Formats: sequence, structure tokens, C-alpha cells
Amino acid sequence: MKALHLLLILGSVISIVSTDNESMVVAGGLIITTSVVLVSVVIYFTTQPEPLRTFNPAGLKSDLGQALFGQHIVSDVVLKAVSSFMADSNPNKPLVLSFHGTAGTGKNHVSKIIARNLYTKGENSKHVHTFIYDNQDPNAYSVWLKQFIHTSVENFPRSTFIFDEMDKMQPQVIDVIKPFLDYNAHVNGVSFHKAIFIFLSNTGGKVIADLALDFWREGRKREEIKMHSRDLEIMISESISKNEKSGFWHSSLIEHHLIDHFIPFLPLELRHVRQCVLAEMYYLNKTLDAHLADKVARDMPFFPKIHRVFAEKGCKSVRQKLALYVDE
Ligand SMILES: Nc1ncnc2c1ncn2[C@@H]1O[C@H](COP(=O)(O)OP(=O)(O)OP(=O)(O)O)[C@@H](O)[C@H]1O
Ligand SMILES: [Mg+2]
Repeated sequence: MKALHLLLILGSVISIVSTDNESMVVAGGLIITTSVVLVSVVIYFTTQPEPLRTFNPAGLKSDLGQALFGQHIVSDVVLKAVSSFMADSNPNKPLVLSFHGTAGTGKNHVSKIIARNLYTKGENSKHVHTFIYDNQDPNAYSVWLKQFIHTSVENFPRSTFIFDEMDKMQPQVIDVIKPFLDYNAHVNGVSFHKAIFIFLSNTGGKVIADLALDFWREGRKREEIKMHSRDLEIMISESISKNEKSGFWHSSLIEHHLIDHFIPFLPLELRHVRQCVLAEMYYLNKTLDAHLADKVARDMPFFPKIHRVFAEKGCKSVRQKLALYVDE
């Protein structure tokens, strides 16, 4: 666009300094033609889809293995769900994942891991759209959202939509998303089967944390918790329906079986928070200091208060806590 402005300015300058009418007409014509070409080039490049990465399940597996701590169920389900979806050249519905868990357990983190394994620009790709419902006028927002999702998928079928704080979404907004998630997800001739929808919420977090606490009290390993342990998936969907705020979410999306997987994020233990601190040190190019990592992690609040088993905020604000210890 800068080049276009330059050309237009140049055109004006030539018109002013030129005294010869004929050369003025020629110069003007040349500039208009060049401008048109330039605009076309700019439009071409800005509307060109970014290339997808060649999806490699082994790459996703190793990324989850290295960057995600203490979430064995998430790693397993996300890997299988995303890999099988990406391997299917003609999926019969979009992939719809619903992430549940208490604060700081890695819900946004995992959506970013998925994004960077699918798109060359990862979470910053223009095909990855994250929405946080922020008390906008639900009617106006619904109209905008419907059009936005439709146009995005029409331009690029393998688009990803991440809805944060799903439990706060208004019924009208959920109603708008619903038709895109279905088995016959064709809206106005556009198919949504290759799109990915990820819903993030804290709903069900307490049920998951209570289950993890039960396992701990029984002296059982965290890794023994499975998707089917005490019907965890059903317990999550029930806790959504019991929650007054997310009642509509339940009736619309769950009863219509539009969500493929409810994925539980377990509360993190001290050892996981320590790993998060070390990961931050690495990210900030600091010398890895296990002793300091332990100190920072222990400084976080844990529950239950007496036994301090799980981190109340998971790995949230680990970076900020670490900053307090720097140069100590
Ligand atoms: N299980 C984890 N493994 C590795 N890093 C983690 C994990 N959980 C959280 N983190 C780190 O903590 C940061 C905050 O986590 P994230 O934003 O993903 O939490 P969240 O589950 O979305 O929480 P909230 O419900 O409060 O939104 C992440 O950016 C990441 O650096
Ligand atoms: Mg989050």
C-alpha cells in the first residue's frame, strides 16, 4: 500500500512540474496502469491463503510431549482426535473439541500447540480465529459472527475457531455457531467439514479436580485417571447442564451430540509448576536453575490448604512470579 501512495504522490508531482500536455497524459496513463497492477498484486497477496503445514502426527506428539506437563489424557485424546481428523480427506463433520479444567491448566496453551502444528504461522495465522465473549450486544455480535465464520471457511476450509470462556456465551451466539458444527454442515453451499472448533471453559473444572483429589487420597497415581474413570466425560457434561449459566450450551450442543470430545485438564501439581517455571526460564533465555524453579513454584497457592496438592492457578502467572525472583 505504501508503494501505491508513493506512485500517486509521484503522479501529482509529475502533473505539477510537467508543462507539456502530451507528456502529462502519457505519464498519467502510465501511473494509472502501474497503480492498477500494484493494487492487484497487493490484493492477490493479502487474500492468498497461507500454506498449511504438512501435518505430521509424530510432530504433534513430540510437541505435546515436550511442551505440555501433567496432562496425559489431553495429550492422548488431542493427538488421536487431531491426527485422525487430519488424515481424513473427507470428514463428515468439523472437528469439535471442548476443553475443561480449572485455571492455568493449559487450555489456551494446547490450542496454540494444535495451531502451530497445523499452520505455518501457528496461533498468529490468519486462519486461526480466537473469540472471547466480552459482553457485546449479543444480537449484533451474532450477526457479525455468523458472517465471519461463513466467509472465513468459504475462503479457507481448514480454518480454526477457538472460543474462550465459552460458559459466558449468550444463547443467541451459541445458536449461531450450532449449524456450523453439524454433520450436514453446509451453510449456503459452503461445507464446514474441514473446519476445527475448540471451546474452552472452566465448567466441569471442579468435578475434574475432585476426581484427581480422590485418586490422590486413595494413593493412586494421577496417570491412572482415564477418560472413562468414573465416567469423567459424562460427569463433565452433567456438570455443564447443572450450571445455570451454561444450561443453554448443554441443551444446544451436547444434546445434539455436536461435540466430539470433552477433554479434561487435570489440576497441576507442584512438580508440573516447577516444569512450567523452567520452561519460562528457557523461554526468557535465562540459565535453568532448578532450585529457583522450586522456590518460585512453592510460592504459588495450592489446595487443599493443609496438604497443598494442586496449584490453584495452575501455571498461570508463573512468568510474573519468576520476574520477582530475578536478580535476587
Ligand atoms: N499443563 C501445562 N503444561 C505446560 N505449560 C502450561 C500448562 N498449563 C499452563 N501452562 C502455562 O501457563 C500459561 C497459562 O495457561 P493457559 O492460559 O493455557 O491456562 P488456561 O487453562 O487457559 O486457564 P484459564 O481457565 O484461566 O483461562 C500457558 O501459557 C503456559 O505457558
Ligand atoms: Mg484460558
